[in-house]
Amino acid sequence: MAKIGVGIIGTGSIVNTYKKCISELEEVELVALFTKSSSRVSEVEKTFGVKVFDDIDKLLALSEIQLICVCNESGNHGEAIKKAAAAGKHILSEKPLEVTPEKIDEVILSCKNNNVILGCVLQNRCSKDYMLAEKAIKEGKLGKLLMGNAHINWYRNKEYYAKNPWRGTKRFDGGAAFMNQGIHTIDLLLNLMGDVKSVFGNVKTMVHNIEGEDVGIGVLNFNNGAIGTITGGTALYPGYSERLEIFGEYGSILLEGGKIVQWNILNVEKPKLIETSIDGTGASDPTSIGHENHKTVIQDMIFAIKENGSPMVSGTEARKAVAVITAFYRSSEIEKMVQL
Ligand SMILES: NC(=O)c1ccc[n+]([C@@H]2O[C@H](COP(=O)([O-])OP(=O)(O)OC[C@H]3O[C@@H](n4cnc5c(N)ncnc54)[C@H](O)[C@@H]3O)[C@@H](O)[C@H]2O)c1
Repeated sequence: MAKIGVGIIGTGSIVNTYKKCISELEEVELVALFTKSSSRVSEVEKTFGVKVFDDIDKLLALSEIQLICVCNESGNHGEAIKKAAAAGKHILSEKPLEVTPEKIDEVILSCKNNNVILGCVLQNRCSKDYMLAEKAIKEGKLGKLLMGNAHINWYRNKEYYAKNPWRGTKRFDGGAAFMNQGIHTIDLLLNLMGDVKSVFGNVKTMVHNIEGEDVGIGVLNFNNGAIGTITGGTALYPGYSERLEIFGEYGSILLEGGKIVQWNILNVEKPKLIETSIDGTGASDPTSIGHENHKTVIQDMIFAIKENGSPMVSGTEARKAVAVITAFYRSSEIEKMVQL
């Protein structure tokens, strides 16, 4: 069967992960990239060994491209997705799908109207230990869910923000520690605990010279009656592996750095834990995030395209964490609880 041609929008650090994944997957082939900086075209062509355009329409006009991977700055995802959808391409976008729920609604509608598949990369859903926990919780092994906590106490140095000035801005990063880094674990928490009714948030910029928060806490009330907390940051030296704690009436499961560290459920044997890959978590260093989970997400998207099915994280699923994070920001601003 012919390979699925891939075009990539963006040429930042995450694109190296795609290059690696695509080179290891038989079903896909990298066809071309788009960079908004004309001066970088030849440099990026040398690095990637494929055609690079500084005109997005030229990239989207290539009939050999069926899938567009959106990897530019978060607040530019929506515009890229809408253009790609209008050109009839399927889309796999980096997280966050966009930086507000309203902008996400626009891209969902655009993909629907153009009859193309839209997926979002929230790759930690593919971690093997997480999937074991998810299965047990969704099968009801914990009984009634009581409390879910996510702690993303990470660290980014000043150079991280200074290097690429879109980071930490409201317009292009949508905020900072919660919207960029915390979103992965917040997504995992929501996927296990269910939809959220209301939140109280308190976010602050305490160390970095950025608009968005580098320290934050949040309280959640879930629709099912359970409660939860979130702590996060990018000023929390040296940066600790993210933790996810799920408590139900029959017991609890705790994950750290994507691995199950506690499994204590009445009358349910602890499973023979799968040794997860050596992928790093990015707690202190964004370049230490491994590529295996991204590869699984791309494979899942290929399957969705071939079967005309739904990807693991659809637009609607990807919207949930962004809606909760923007509600935290709003709550912090008005110093009141916010209903979703
Ligand atoms: N899924 C994950 O774990 C993960 C990890 C990292 C980033 N991301 C997402 O990927 C997207 C891009 O993030 P990133 O970290 O790759 O951003 P980045 O700051 O490295 O690059 C973003 C954009 O900046 C420009 N740029 C980058 N390097 C440049 C250079 N040397 N000269 C001129 N312009 C340059 C390019 O237009 C590029 O697309 C974001 O939406 C982010 O949230 C996801």
